[in-house]
Formats: sequence, C-alpha cells, structure tokens
Amino acid sequence: MITRRRFVRRAAALATAAGLKLPVWEFPVPEGAVRGSAAEAGNERPLLLGADYYPDQTPEKLWEEDARMIAEAGLTNVRVAEFAWGLMEPSEGKFDFAWLKRSVEILNKRGIAVILGTPSAAPPPWLSSKYPEILLVNKDGATVSPGGRRFTCPTNRTYRRLSLGMATEMAKTFANTPGVIGWQIDNEYTLQPHARCYCKFCREGFQDWLKAKYGSLEKVNEKWGTVFWSQTYSDWRQIPVPLPSNGDPNPGLVLDYDRYQSYACASSAEEQLAMLRRECPKHFVTTNQVGAPLDTLNLREMYRNMDFVSSDNYPGFAEVFMPAPASPEVMASMIGLGHDSMRCVKGGKPFLIMEEQAGKAGQSFFAPQPHPGQLRLWAFQAVAHGAMGVNYFRWDSARFGAEEYWFGMLNHDRSKSIGFDEMVRTVKELKSLGREGLESGFVAETAVSFDHDSSWALAVQPGNSKLRYMAQLMAWYGSVASANTGTDVIHLDEDLANYKAVFAPVQYVVSEKQAENIRSYVRGGGTFVAGFRLGVKDESSQIVNAPLPGLLRDVMGVTVRDPVPVYTEKIAVKFGPQLAGADAQCALWADLLQPESATVMATYAGLYEGDAAITMNAFGQGKAVYVGADLEPVSLARVLRTVLAMSGSTAAIETPRGVEVTRRRGGEKEWLFVLNHTPQEQKVHLAGKFSAVVGNGPTNQTLTLPAYDLAVLQRA
Ligand code: GAL
Ligand code: ZN
Repeated sequence: MITRRRFVRRAAALATAAGLKLPVWEFPVPEGAVRGSAAEAGNERPLLLGADYYPDQTPEKLWEEDARMIAEAGLTNVRVAEFAWGLMEPSEGKFDFAWLKRSVEILNKRGIAVILGTPSAAPPPWLSSKYPEILLVNKDGATVSPGGRRFTCPTNRTYRRLSLGMATEMAKTFANTPGVIGWQIDNEYTLQPHARCYCKFCREGFQDWLKAKYGSLEKVNEKWGTVFWSQTYSDWRQIPVPLPSNGDPNPGLVLDYDRYQSYACASSAEEQLAMLRRECPKHFVTTNQVGAPLDTLNLREMYRNMDFVSSDNYPGFAEVFMPAPASPEVMASMIGLGHDSMRCVKGGKPFLIMEEQAGKAGQSFFAPQPHPGQLRLWAFQAVAHGAMGVNYFRWDSARFGAEEYWFGMLNHDRSKSIGFDEMVRTVKELKSLGREGLESGFVAETAVSFDHDSSWALAVQPGNSKLRYMAQLMAWYGSVASANTGTDVIHLDEDLANYKAVFAPVQYVVSEKQAENIRSYVRGGGTFVAGFRLGVKDESSQIVNAPLPGLLRDVMGVTVRDPVPVYTEKIAVKFGPQLAGADAQCALWADLLQPESATVMATYAGLYEGDAAITMNAFGQGKAVYVGADLEPVSLARVLRTVLAMSGSTAAIETPRGVEVTRRRGGEKEWLFVLNHTPQEQKVHLAGKFSAVVGNGPTNQTLTLPAYDLAVLQRA
C-alpha cells in the first residue's frame, strides 16, 4: 500500500532529481482550518518564529491576553506541553486534554500555530512511585531520585510503554485540531548530569543489542579482547555494564555501551515517531537537542526518520560555567559549532531553534542579561548557520519551580522584559527574509569531523589526563571557521568530494570505511588535515595492528615514531618556511613523526630534535597534512589557515576577530550574513557590490557594523 507520506517521499525524490527545491516538511492545509489562522494561509506553512509557552503553568484567565500579546509581538507559533504529563494524565489511564484543547483554540484564533511536546522527559509522581523500576541508575550505581526531570531509564519497557501510551492519547486527540502543525518528541534526551543509565534493564538491553550486533559470544570476546583480566564471557547474561569495578573497564565494552545508550534513546524516540506517523500524518515530527558540546547521542541515528533537527541555543549560559571569560571570537565559534553540527545531522537541511535564549539564563544562578543587540545577533547567527526558525524560550518567566530564574520575554510580573522590543524587531526582520531565505541552503567549502566514536573512546582513555576531545574540536573548528568559508561538521564516512579541505582533530578511531573514504577523497584532489592521535584505534576500540597512523599511513606518508603525552616537559615546535611563524610550545601532546613520502613543515626542538611535528604528503591529486603537535591557539589557527589557503579555497573572507560571515543560497539567490560579535564597532571589506536586506549595506565596499550589529546582504 502506498501511504500518503510514502507518495510524498517518492514525489520528493523525483523533484530532487529534477533539481527542484524541496519543502522542508509537507504541510497540507488541515480541514476546518480557522479563517485567518496560520494554517489556513493557502498551502503556506507558517514560518516558525515563535516562543515556548506554558499554559499549564499559567492561570487560564491569562491565556487570552497571552495569545493576543504573542500575536501582537509578531510570533507565528508556540511550543507547548512538553512537561505537562501530570496535567494530561493525572492518574494512570485517566486522560484530560480539555485544558490543552482550550489553550490551542485560543492560540489558533489568533493565528498562532502550535507544536506539541510529548511529555516523556518528566513523568508525574504517581508513575514513579507505582513503578520505581523506571528510575535511572547513574554511573556510580546509585538510583536517581524522582523530583527533578530526566530521571528515567531509556530501556525500561514499563516506562517506554507508559510514555508511548501517553503520547498516543495526545496524538489521537490532536491529530485534526486546527492550528496544531507538529510534534517535539520528549525533551533534550540525555541532558542532565546523569546522561547514561546503568540499571539492570539497560544491562539486559545491552546484552540483547550485542547479540544482534555480533551474533556470537566468540566475536564479542575477540573484539573486546576479554582474555585480558580473565573476562571471557560464556553466557550473554554475564556481560556487565561499566559500573565501578575496582579497575578500569574494557575499552571495547565501554564504547559499545555508549553506542547502546544512544541507541536506547533513539529507539525509544522511534517508538513515539512511528506512532505519530500513524496518528498524525499531517504533522511534522522532531525532537530538540543541545548539540555540541553535549556528546552522548549519535544524532544521525536519532534523527534518521524525523522531519528535521531542532536544537536549543543558550549562548549566555557559557558565562556561568566557563572557567574564564571567553573572547567574542571564541563565543561566536562555540555557538557556531553547535549550529553547524545541527545543520549537518540531516545533510544540511534547515533546522529549527526550538529554544532560544530570551534573557538572563540560569536556574540556581543566572547569566547576566545579554548586552543590547546580542539577543538579535544570536538569533540571526542561528539563521546565518542554516536555521529556518527560532522559538524564544520562554514566553513568560515562571514564578515557581526550578527555573524561576530563567527569564522569558515577559518578566515575572508579566511586564515586557528588557529585551522584548529587540526580540520583536528580530522576528520582524527574520520574516523579511521570507521562506526562500529562511529555508535556503548553506554554503560550505570546508568541513570539520566531529566523531562520537573518537570522542567516546577518548573519554575513557584520554592518554593525557588533560586531553579532551571537545576542547580539541572547538580549537580546530574555531581556527577553520574564522576563514569564513562556511564549515560543515561531518562524519568521515560521508561524501567529502565537495570540500576543498577536511579537518579531523584527534580522529582517534578510524574505521576501514572511513579510511577508504579519506583515501579516495585525497586521491581525487582533496586536502585532508589530521591532528595527533590519528587512527590509533579500530571501531572496537582495539589498537590497530600496524605502525601509526594505522590505516592512513599511506595517505599521510608518515609513521609515528612515538606518541608523547606532554605534562611538565617543554617541547618546542619550529616552523619551516611554508608555515613561517614564531616557535610554539606543545601543550598536551607530541606525535613524533617520521616522514616516509611526506615533506616536513615543522620540527620539534630540544629533546626530540630530528623528529617532524607537522608534515604534508602529496597523495594522488590531493594533499594530506599531519599536525602531530598540540599547538596553542594562535599557532594552530595560523597553521590551519595556511593549509586551507594551499588547498585552493577561494571563499575565505578576511574579517576582524569576532566578526563572522556566512552564506546561504537558494536557486539564483545568495544571502551574505555579516555578524559582529564584539562590543566595538567593526569594519569589514567586501569585494563586489551588495545591497542590504537587513541592516545597513556597505559604502565603498566597506561595511561598518556597530557593536553586536549585523547585516544581511545580497549581491547587487
Ligand atoms: C533547556 C530545556 C528547557 C529548559 C531550558 C532552560 O535545556 O529544554 O526545558 O529547561 O533549558 O533551562
Ligand atoms: Zn536503565
């Protein structure tokens, strides 16, 4: 049988083949759409420029006023109910959606479209007291208490059955409700201090998952090397989860366990997704994520069958947790990395910011109010990196509960917040880009690998106690992104052919498929740039049985003579003429390189005199660069930018530090986003003629941007 959805998918495939632009999600007009509502506006899907709204936490007498004000602010949609399980199912099997129906109706009358959240991230007390086995067990083996949220096991069948049952009732109730356009499943899987569960249900789930993956215990024993410390398993039920055991766990087991936990979340989301496809074929389905630097999920697995990616963006929160204040350029690139990684989860498809910072952000402590201009800047930055819409979190500010100090568009007394007018202006300006701008593609000439296998494997064996995958990723991404060529954040088994250069910091795990993909990319003319600890491990987290960099030795044209974690010794790096610059100090690592076919671009001095620190190898039509030394940020940026220039990239645009430029393209049109993240005025030189779509345009090829200001330009 051909379902409507399958039909639309097939039509979509044909349209792509014909070079036509595809809708981001299918949007039929619901029968009985209220006149003048977003849903009624012909075949037009509403733009998603809204707020996260909590009628469940607001007296009903204020709902009309809320809807009026939300509409007056120019917002087009809200997301509701993702934490309202207790109100929707006050006791087991007794559902009450009447209140939510009334709220949706009030919103729809004002033309505000509604995204519904399934509430599985916070089950009510009746549930956790009746079924205490659903509680998450943390990595120390302690059972987490109910009373917060996300305290549940992702494997537990009872919990999944009740979550699905709840969501199904909700879906049946709202499938044809005018104004409802889509769903957010759950809320931020794994975000909380205890990201993974180690309970007995997860242990059994893990064992079953291993059985399906490996087929036989012999294979598991071999892949993990269980002969070490007498860990050979003779029954699937003997296999443990990595709880404290007076000795480090088996690295292969841990890597598989991380994969299993990711799968448990994705498969539990998939159950709700399958149900929503059946019950609500007219609606889109997504789930919201925090994105980098959170790294507990394989997002490609999580979003495989969803319509688009959604993510949450709270840049100001960095200030609360960063050990030292971050410079504007570091802030900009940290946020940019999050967006670029989200966009690339579904191959560049526009994504949605489901929650965007609306004011002071925090819970027990809160970050200061963003400076005037930053709320607008951050929303535009998301769009500049490929978002199609932004929902401000949250409409009002809660006067009770754990998030009283998370400020919304309204203050606690319901007056307009200090940033309210700026957000209204932002929404208006974003609307002016239209669907064609907001749903256009993103232009990227470079890519950075963000590999969860490497990240997870390195987390249990960092080699140097201070080495962190995420810190390396951020440093590399920041250096590359500062060239403004547009940077995708990819997996190395994806198609690389369109990139001038591909960068891979600490690519600790390299699969055969990835090695082959990199090999043919470089052979075909690409530039591959890898950092230290390249290809140390295979996919089972076993060390490769070859000189490092293992499977990529031919491509890189070097052998690692010795891998050196750097603690107190000072190891200097001297640059050759191609990379000319002041000597650098190795920070955390020095891979001592011996060129085979590669040429030397930098060497170590002192203790390791004679070993190469950076090499470049001509391979096929392309080049492969090995950066064996952990360089401090200034040298790293210079090295990576120099190599990028050598790759033949022409898209680089020089900007002052803290100013970024991105491009989006749709059909014949291209939008250039220029964003000033600094608290000072900045000037940017732009070759060519441009006119401004948002903000002011350049004069005599110079664009002047006041503090935190931005412009969206089109070539004249
Ligand atoms: C997000 C979460 C929201 C809210 C917000 C502010 O992580 O999805 O529910 O908690 O942060 O803390
Ligand atoms: Zn569990």
